Amino acid sequence: MFSIFPNPQAIAENLSTLLAKKIRSNPTTILGLATGSTMEPIYARLVQKIQQDNIDMSQIKTFNLDEYIGLPPEHPQSYYQFMHQHLFQAAGIRPEQVTLPSGMCTDIEEECVSYSEKIRAAGGLDIQLLGIGTNGHIGFNEPGTSFDSLTHVIQLSENTRLDNGRFFENQDEVPTHAITMGIQDITNAKEIVLVATGSHKAEIIAQLYASDIDEQLPASVLKQHPRINIFIDDAAAALLPVQAKKIV
Ligand code: GLP
Repeated sequence: MFSIFPNPQAIAENLSTLLAKKIRSNPTTILGLATGSTMEPIYARLVQKIQQDNIDMSQIKTFNLDEYIGLPPEHPQSYYQFMHQHLFQAAGIRPEQVTLPSGMCTDIEEECVSYSEKIRAAGGLDIQLLGIGTNGHIGFNEPGTSFDSLTHVIQLSENTRLDNGRFFENQDEVPTHAITMGIQDITNAKEIVLVATGSHKAEIIAQLYASDIDEQLPASVLKQHPRINIFIDDAAAALLPVQAKKIV
């Protein structure tokens, strides 16, 4: 389940190859996408491969995990902006191919219900990419979120607001709430790849390894998924026991 790579670039190489292969063999692949700094080198390498190898991206569809409530799409820290900057624009993925939850809708309950429904109606996610929060969140599903949850509004924990504060000019600007795919939307994906890099992720990765399947550690739900890969670099693997380590 845990594959350990020497550095984030090696993960980007491996994962972008896997994604490129998938898209080539099925040009209508439905991708579940994540944001966060962990994803940046992966998207950068994927964009290079798409451009070099002329991969047809015109029929894929994408669904993003989450969005901050109260940030309009044009806000520099919205996940809409992140995706356009790091992937969609350079990969030639058109607006009609992408779906992100809206953090600015007037009827948030309706937005939640219809977001999960859109994923189902599209045929479900072929592959979902995930990062992990230092408290074990996936998407923005904070500890304690029900494993049965569909898309919902969540109050961000102080831990998450502090972690993500580095992207904002000051801590007060970090939104307090987000809209996120639920855990069930995520685990319904046919295949899942969770990525964690850096020494600041070592503790949560060791906890994830040792943990039972427990709603207090949202990522632990992945242990019961039939097709889960957890890609980590040496720094994030630092606190894993030797027997957990499969070096790639
Ligand atoms: C945010 C996102 C998550 C992401 C996490 C880790 O909270 N909602 O989807 O996994 O950050 O981000 P980073 O990759 O920057 O450590």
